[in-house]
Amino acid sequence: MPTLFDPLALGPITLKNRIVMAPMTRSRNDDAGCPTDIMATYYAQRATAGLIISEATYVSAMGKGYSRIPGLHSPAQVAAWRKVVDAVHAKGGKIFAQLFHTGRVAVPQLLPAGTQPVAPSAIAINGKNYTDFGPIDYVVPRALETGEISGVAAEFGAAARNALAAGFDGVELHAASGYLVHQFLDPTINTRADSYGGSIANRARFLFEAIDSMIAAAGKERVGVKFSPRIKFNDVVEPDAEEIYPHLARELSSRGIAYLHVAQQGAYEAHKALRPLFKGPYFAGSAFDKASGETLLAVGGADAIVFGKPFIGNPDLPRRFRDGLAIAESDGKTYYAKGPEGYIDYAEA
Ligand SMILES: Cc1cc2nc3c(=O)[nH]c(=O)nc-3n(C[C@H](O)[C@H](O)[C@H](O)COP(=O)(O)O)c2cc1C
Repeated sequence: MPTLFDPLALGPITLKNRIVMAPMTRSRNDDAGCPTDIMATYYAQRATAGLIISEATYVSAMGKGYSRIPGLHSPAQVAAWRKVVDAVHAKGGKIFAQLFHTGRVAVPQLLPAGTQPVAPSAIAINGKNYTDFGPIDYVVPRALETGEISGVAAEFGAAARNALAAGFDGVELHAASGYLVHQFLDPTINTRADSYGGSIANRARFLFEAIDSMIAAAGKERVGVKFSPRIKFNDVVEPDAEEIYPHLARELSSRGIAYLHVAQQGAYEAHKALRPLFKGPYFAGSAFDKASGETLLAVGGADAIVFGKPFIGNPDLPRRFRDGLAIAESDGKTYYAKGPEGYIDYAEA
């Protein structure tokens, strides 16, 4: 069985190790959704990961749900991402772009003038969005019309095309964390009566339309998917998670995509249901350390391990794991702050 330090073939590319950097929003983009120069430094510092998955990136202006997150729908965003991707490649790294649409997580202040957030159904999230304009209560979103949903799914394909134009090695569909794709999956958020609501096949329809548009744009071997079943975030409930995720894993397996990425706490127990259903590379994430990651690989419970917070405080995480060096804590206060502090100033060991 492989270790964290063995290579992994992922479609046409080869990861130099099985230590994957999790997608993490860090809020250092400009207000037009363009990555800034410190982001090239940040990602290049972490290029010893087998694969970097970028912070979640919106596919259209209607998908922007937080201040200072990046997009991939305008030429300026593509050009700015190109600098980040080139910096990672110059250091020998590989990087996928994580694509999302925030749906009902957005608030009108972040969206084009005169528009309202969209979602499967007109049900608001409880709580506030902490924007640069202050904390703003979530609003009741506008339920998408049946006839406009395919157009939203196609935005994922257009953004995938832009990601390849920026030089990314591939794209990941963000079907996790209670954003738009996940909103369609959860029957407590999606109460539609049309072909996008009700049965599992109907609630999964938007996901497959989005993934198929990404496959058409980038090729199946450059497309991955992330799930976070029953995550306690953005009012996700998912009473039928035990049924819907096996259905999705089987269908994605038959499409032959690059990988399935599942973030769920609980190491082996969390992954044993889905892992056998997906025949390609399986990435497991959430709360892993070196020992628990090695153990899961050793029992065949995953093909690669995804590390989030450990990569914030340890830009050279693979070397620290390999040489048994101390793992530094990161400072949560600067996760979403502005500027270089707590971002590009974590030292190598
Ligand atoms: C600061 C921060 C930002 C995050 N942003 C994203 C994101 O943009 N997309 C995503 O899929 N998950 C995001 N996550 C979740 C991580 O990808 C990962 O699933 C989670 O942190 C658990 O892994 P860990 O325990 O190794 O950190 C974020 C997590 C953190 C800490």
